[in-house]
This record gives sequence, structure tokens and C-alpha cells, in this order.
Amino acid sequence: MINNRFPTVFGVLVVLAAWAAPANAQEKAANPAGHIPEVPAVATVGNTAEAQAILGAKLLVCNTCHGDRGAPRSVAAPIIWGLQENYLLKQLNEFHSGVRKNDVMNWMATALTQAELAPTATYFAKKDWPARTTNAASPSPPSAIAVCQICHQQNLVGGLTGPRLAGQTYQYLIAEMNRFAAGQRTNNADMVKIMEAISPADREALARYISAL
Ligand code: HEC
Ligand code: HEC
Repeated sequence: MINNRFPTVFGVLVVLAAWAAPANAQEKAANPAGHIPEVPAVATVGNTAEAQAILGAKLLVCNTCHGDRGAPRSVAAPIIWGLQENYLLKQLNEFHSGVRKNDVMNWMATALTQAELAPTATYFAKKDWPARTTNAASPSPPSAIAVCQICHQQNLVGGLTGPRLAGQTYQYLIAEMNRFAAGQRTNNADMVKIMEAISPADREALARYISAL
């Protein structure tokens, strides 16, 4: 399934294998026949330059799906460039701990150490939200949009009370809204309640409208 959605995942595997090589070689010696757990590459204690180089290499892998200019390469992958820093850090922590479930991102987040999560959030938050390449015709705003603006702000550009939604793909927005509604994404109780109360047709209209902003 992952391979169908992300044809480039094999490239990621190769890079991941390279990062994890020293740890895996030791593990292999310790468990020649056994299972090798995912071990994030870590720098020698106190070596800041080495730590930065390792993190820089890890963050290059994110581009495989989230894009090297901030425009994702798959409609299922959200824009992370320029997203609110507090939101990015919360998501990275939750993918890391498994509170937010997604096979690829749980794996990606555990390739980062706990200490690398905050600099990763800062790195992507400081980048510019990618410019639109196509101009989708904007449908008229569904009435429920007024509720969303309370937290996601005017024009859905986000702030401290909720992440930016404007310009994420229709596919990503509808998938997340349906996951909240179905109780599959539970990392925000307000969003679960709000999405449960909105009909599937209204969710659809909201996702179409917001993706065209
Ligand atoms: C193989 C593809 C792939 C790679 C590589 C990848 N991601 Fe993701 N990422 C995704 C997908 C797909 C989602 C949406 C997950 C979902 O639907 O819950 C996502 C979601 C996210 C989110 C949540 C954004 C939001 O709006 O909620 C963050 C943050 C994120 N990724 C950061 C990263 C970072 C940092 C890296 C590199 C360490 C990375 N990703 C590597 C595919 C990928
Ligand atoms: C009470 C505040 C509040 C209201 C009202 C609200 N949201 Fe949210 N929403 C949030 C917060 C906070 C998050 C981040 C949840 C998390 O931590 O993962 C979020 C997350 C989301 C996400 C996932 C974003 C991503 O990048 O994964 C979508 C989609 C979304 N909201 C859509 C909506 C829509 C559509 C409405 C209006 C019908 C709405 N929200 C109303 C607070 C709110």
C-alpha cells in the first residue's frame, strides 16, 4: 500500500539504511538472527556540528514526500513548510509517541531522536508556505466556515489556536476531517466533536472550499 502511494519510498529506505548503518551493524553482531529494531542515528555526546550534520541529512528525507520546495509530491502528504511551529512540534511528538497514527509518519518520527523534534519543527516553520502553482476556481464559502474561523482564523491561515488549513489539498483535508469524525484521529478532542457534528456532504464542501483558498 505504501509503495503504491509513494513510489519513491524505496529511495527513502536506502537513505534510512545509511543513517542507521553503524547502529545496525552493532545490533546485527549482537542478534545475528534476530529482529533489528529501528534505532535513530545519534551524534557523539557534546559534538554539536556532528549533531547538526546528522539532523540535516535526516531532514533531506522529508523532501521525498513533502517536497524540496515545500510543495508535496503526493496529494496525500500535507504542506509542512510555513506551518505553525507549535502545531508542527505537537504533531512530531504525537507521531513519535504513536498518539497520532500513520504508518509512514510514525516510522519517520521515530527515526528522529526526541531532542531533534523541536529543531525540526523550527526548521520547517521558518520556511515560506509554497506559492500556488494552479489557480483552482474558488467555490462560495459553506456556512459552517464561520465555526472554523474561530480557531483557524480568517482565511484559514492559522495561528496559535489552530493550524493553517488554506491551500492544503482537498484529499488531505477530507481524509483528516473524516478521521476525526470516525474517531481514528483523536489527538484533539474539539476537532473530533466538531467533525462528528458535520455531515459528510458538508465536510466535503468545506474541504473543497478550503483547498482552493
Ligand atoms: C514517505 C512519505 C513521507 C516522508 C518521507 C515524510 N512524510 Fe511527513 N507526512 C506524510 C504523510 C502521508 C502525512 C499525512 C499523515 C496523515 O494522513 O495522518 C505526513 C504528515 C506530516 C506532518 C503533519 C502535518 C499536518 O498538517 O498535520 C508533519 C509535521 C510531517 N509529516 C513531518 C515530516 C518530517 C519532519 C519528515 C522527515 C523527518 C517527514 N514528514 C517525512 C508523508 C511523509
Ligand atoms: C475550537 C477550535 C477549533 C475549531 C472551531 C475548528 N478547529 Fe480544526 N483544528 C483545531 C486544532 C487545535 C487543530 C490541531 C489539532 C491537533 O493538535 O492535531 C485542528 C486541526 C484541524 C485539521 C487538521 C489539520 C492538519 O494539518 O492535519 C483540519 C482539517 C481541521 N482542523 C478542519 C477544521 C474545520 C473544517 C473546521 C470548521 C468546521 C474546524 N477545523 C474548526 C481547532 C479548531
